[in-house]
Amino acid sequence: MSLLRRKSLESVTVHEEGRRLVRSLSWPHLIALGIGAIVGTGIYTLIGVGANLAGPAVLISFAIAGAVCACAALSYAELSTMMPAAGSAYTYSYTALGEMFAWIVGWSLILEYSLVVSTVAVGWSGYFVGFLEWVHSTLGWDIRLPAALSAGPHVEHGMFNLPAVIITWVVAGGLMLGTKESATLNAILVVLKIVALAVFVAVALPAFDAANLQPFMPYGFAKSPDAEGVERGVMAAAAIIFFAFYGFDAISTAAEETKNPGRDLSIGIIGSMVGCTIIYMLVALAAIGAMSYAVFGSSAEPLALIMRQLGHPTAALVIGVVAIIALPTVLLAFLFGQSRVFFVMGRDGLLPRRLSAVNPRTGTPVATTLFSALLVSVLAGVARLDEIAALANAGTLAAFTAVGICLVVMRRRAPDHKRSFRTPLAWIVGPAAALGCIYLFISLPSSTQKYFLLWNAIGLAVYFLYSRRNAVIGR
Ligand code: ALA
Repeated sequence: MSLLRRKSLESVTVHEEGRRLVRSLSWPHLIALGIGAIVGTGIYTLIGVGANLAGPAVLISFAIAGAVCACAALSYAELSTMMPAAGSAYTYSYTALGEMFAWIVGWSLILEYSLVVSTVAVGWSGYFVGFLEWVHSTLGWDIRLPAALSAGPHVEHGMFNLPAVIITWVVAGGLMLGTKESATLNAILVVLKIVALAVFVAVALPAFDAANLQPFMPYGFAKSPDAEGVERGVMAAAAIIFFAFYGFDAISTAAEETKNPGRDLSIGIIGSMVGCTIIYMLVALAAIGAMSYAVFGSSAEPLALIMRQLGHPTAALVIGVVAIIALPTVLLAFLFGQSRVFFVMGRDGLLPRRLSAVNPRTGTPVATTLFSALLVSVLAGVARLDEIAALANAGTLAAFTAVGICLVVMRRRAPDHKRSFRTPLAWIVGPAAALGCIYLFISLPSSTQKYFLLWNAIGLAVYFLYSRRNAVIGR
């Protein structure tokens, strides 16, 4: 049994009866799914964490993380049109690099998707709890939750983050009702989310003061510990801000459910990526220019705080309310992606086969969605935002590194195979994606790197004890 046995390109898109997903999505759905997955806690909350780590030079962190993600997005676009099957990076790795690498990527994707869902649920809960505070202080209605149920145990008086758990289950319920309905509702929420960021830029940009950009790079470029042992610098911030950019990869997990994958996937992935990068650079510039990063750097709701400080409480309220209504689109996309990764790893026999059963009425894998929701909601109840965000990034960086490598491997191994989208300068873009991701991984907190290695050590144990023997490809 070879550790590096591979799937053939042909087998990737042919599936058994009862284990196929329904083709119901086209490119507007995918762009909405992409932007819905990308714009979330990263820009709404982690922008403050990033500014705290890099100072005003967080603008460079945004540019670096965006450039690495652009290279990864281009690699994804080519591979997803070449292999339009659920499972994205995992499936590409199974075909290009072999089973053991595919396993590591799939196992890392499970980490990514679970922790993103938990992270965003915790971020959402922060806005929600803040909103209940606003209702209390402005309207006099006391509908606040007890402190013990408002946050996890790492917060003073906190015990269990109930709103984060509830929002996860609401979104999971929507997903189980069927892909298309959820995707259409998602499109409406995406528009709201972009309008709120536009309001932010329109209000904050006129207050731009170049003095707020001085000193520009107080913590240097490469990651290095400060007096308290916190690892800072432009790269340390880039490794966190990276969270804000991904989500386009969740689109490629929908490949098997796409009507015209060749055209729709490349438009969806590249369109949503380019749109988000433009929006982010504007938001970051407006935020950094409007006031000293020290003012909003440690806020749980930095964008709303900036609006209030500038004397615009209504704009602050709009941003808060939109975050509450629209952040669940990120949950939707990642919960969708996660259930699909379980689904396809189950179908391949690397995880129990039960995970790949599709509900005959909705065409969606209901059992895996339920299982995913259970896992991530428990995490959301007790986990800490910045730590789970960093660990989610580690998983994502592993997958993106593999995708950059798969791009050049497939160019070499199957140069003439049909590709509906060809990445320009693939021999530069693929290695740039892989090396950029490795540099970002090195820039993550050292503790995060250790947890990531531990996760994959457990994964490899599962692989050698169970998956390797049960793989469908070996039967
Ligand atoms: N990019 C997504 C977010 O910022 C994960 O929430």
